[in-house]
Amino acid sequence: MVFVFVNQKGGVGKTTSAVNLGACLAGAGKSVLLVDFDSQANLSSAVGLNKAGIKPGVYELISGQAELAVVIRKTVVQNLWVIPSSIDLSGAAVELVEHEKRDLFLKNALAPVKDRYDYVMIDCPPSLGVLTLNGLAAADSVLIPMQCEYFAMEGLSLLLQTIRRIQKNLNPKLQIGGIFFTMYDQRTRLAQDVVREVSAYFREKVFETIIPRNVRISEAPSHGLPISHYDPASSGSRAYQSLAEEVIARG
Ligand SMILES: Nc1ncnc2c1ncn2[C@@H]1O[C@H](COP(=O)(O)OP(=O)(O)OP(=O)(O)O)[C@@H](O)[C@H]1O
Ligand SMILES: [Mg+2]
Repeated sequence: MVFVFVNQKGGVGKTTSAVNLGACLAGAGKSVLLVDFDSQANLSSAVGLNKAGIKPGVYELISGQAELAVVIRKTVVQNLWVIPSSIDLSGAAVELVEHEKRDLFLKNALAPVKDRYDYVMIDCPPSLGVLTLNGLAAADSVLIPMQCEYFAMEGLSLLLQTIRRIQKNLNPKLQIGGIFFTMYDQRTRLAQDVVREVSAYFREKVFETIIPRNVRISEAPSHGLPISHYDPASSGSRAYQSLAEEVIARG
């Protein structure tokens, strides 16, 4: 199963969720390959890869300069692998646009290995540009992290339009795996209202698990560890564990 984490809004928890959900699935005995498809390379550093030393990575892979066997790295977590990224990927966005099959580079690059893992999880940048379209073309299922803010629904409808366009043109099998809330603060009325509104509209597409705002989650990346290893007893760790159980149960 190939999941892609998409939301054109920045800072909503795409990378955090890819790392922590991936680590929890790995902890449940699943084999997981994380793909950092953002030139910010936040995912790579969150699993302990130093930003300076992560070449070759996903850019070299999609541009044909490096083989899969070289770019797939082990992490400190058992069953969890990663294809890292670097700032070089920002140039790829420009190079790819020239190309007729520009949206299929990632799909083609991952094709030989995707069935070797229980889950491949692609982290995308905060835009609906060519990199995110590559992520959507390569995936079986989209996971949408959302923050509970004003205009959440507006952002979501633009994203859903894009997903429909991809389903028509590039990837008819693409499913919406689900929407989940991140950085939830139960003390605010707004957060409760957004959860209620989005859940009423998207119903079973919304995961029951809500990821709370938890400072331990924001500390973990600077230690190069997923929350499950940095602070397993934290509320954030328990929430990602519960999200992983839902993902496994949904099949
Ligand atoms: N549940 C949480 N509680 C507290 N902090 C969080 C939580 N989830 C994410 N963060 C923090 O919020 C920031 C943004 O999260 P993250 O990088 O995962 O978002 P993103 O959607 O990947 O951002 P971008 O769009 O820039 O790629 C990070 O500093 C992260 O540590
Ligand atoms: Mg990110």
